[in-house]
Amino acid sequence: MNFEKTILITGGAGFIGSHVVRLFVNKYPGYHIVNLDKLTYAGNLENLADVEEKMNYSFEKGDITNQDFIRSLFQKYQFDGVVHLAAESHVDRSITNPLEFIEANIIGTVNLLNAARDAWKGQETGKRFYHISTDEVYGSLGEEGFFVETTAYDPRSPYSASKASSDHLVRAYHHTYNLPVVISNCSNNYGPNQFPEKLIPLVINNIKHNKPLPIYGDGKYTRDWLWVIDHAEAIDLIYHEGRVGETYNIGGNNERKNIELVQTLCDIMDAQLGRPVGQSRTLITYVKDRPGHDRRYAIDATKLKNELGWQPSISPEEGLKLTAEWYLANETWLNNVTSGAYQKYYEKQYA
Ligand code: NAD
Ligand code: TYD
Repeated sequence: MNFEKTILITGGAGFIGSHVVRLFVNKYPGYHIVNLDKLTYAGNLENLADVEEKMNYSFEKGDITNQDFIRSLFQKYQFDGVVHLAAESHVDRSITNPLEFIEANIIGTVNLLNAARDAWKGQETGKRFYHISTDEVYGSLGEEGFFVETTAYDPRSPYSASKASSDHLVRAYHHTYNLPVVISNCSNNYGPNQFPEKLIPLVINNIKHNKPLPIYGDGKYTRDWLWVIDHAEAIDLIYHEGRVGETYNIGGNNERKNIELVQTLCDIMDAQLGRPVGQSRTLITYVKDRPGHDRRYAIDATKLKNELGWQPSISPEEGLKLTAEWYLANETWLNNVTSGAYQKYYEKQYA
């Protein structure tokens, strides 16, 4: 088949990546979407069961840290664009094993940058290398203020430091080699298919099983929650219309203190499970804090709104309800990802 464009999406079997793959495959039948994923513990092809038979979708299992493999992939497919999401993504794991984050998030990104630079040399027009990053690169806020695109980087965990490093390298390849890059930094995503090591799915899963809900420290740490499908739509917009060399912040305009978020989830789950009001809140348990825990993240997404017209589509209440419903309706998915290795991780992390 002759395709209008061939786009490489890395990390497409993960949480956000699978929503981006689904959106691109369905919305652009004229694009060939190639999903490259190593299928780590966080990558799950079940997330893409509804698109795997589509003519314009291909899957390649592989590791972005393998330079030869990445080069051969760029030879096999003549990519017009890259949407780079593959990464180690969990802060707690980065505290236990920083090197894995350096390898996947920094070396992996450089391998992709080198391959794109060499493949597109002298033919950069119309090409695009889109790097997906995080608001955590900006560090931690106090009670006031927001992260804007020009906020100085101040990463404070091995995860955020590895993402900051990759962002700098992406910009360096733009300035040094004229690589047509664009970057977005988003806040905490939530929604279907998120691995239950992250706060929201972990809490939903524990409520379901009547297990303690671990709240780090005083529970007053604040995150800005972004509905993952809104994020995928922002990525589509930035990929197609974002200006080369620019950075866009993406946020949910939805700040919550962790304890308030967890209380809301308890109430939603009580209603959905037919439990008495207040029952799940009794599971809330304060536990030892995360080392170096960032106090508050909050995104100012005005640039994206003004330039490209994007804004969140659903209310936080609606999004949390939909998320709880999804996890309750997808028991097999949850059981599959929480068996074996996850149980060992959980016992060690929350011992
Ligand atoms: P995820 O952990 O759910 O998925 C990551 C995917 O990358 C998995 O499918 C995994 O198999 C794959 N991967 C990991 N290492 C790889 C390697 N070496 N080679 C090939 N594939 C590899 O992560 P996510 O939450 O979907 O995050 C996606 C991207 O968005 C990441 O770059 C992350 O830093 C960024 N981000 C995430 C959030 C969030 O709230 N989840 C917020 C801001 C930014
Ligand atoms: P997380 O989902 O790991 O995302 P991030 O660390 O990237 O923001 O955590 C979200 C917030 O919830 C963060 O402040 C840490 C806190 N948290 C808990 O209180 N308990 C938990 O068991 C987890 C996983 C996170």
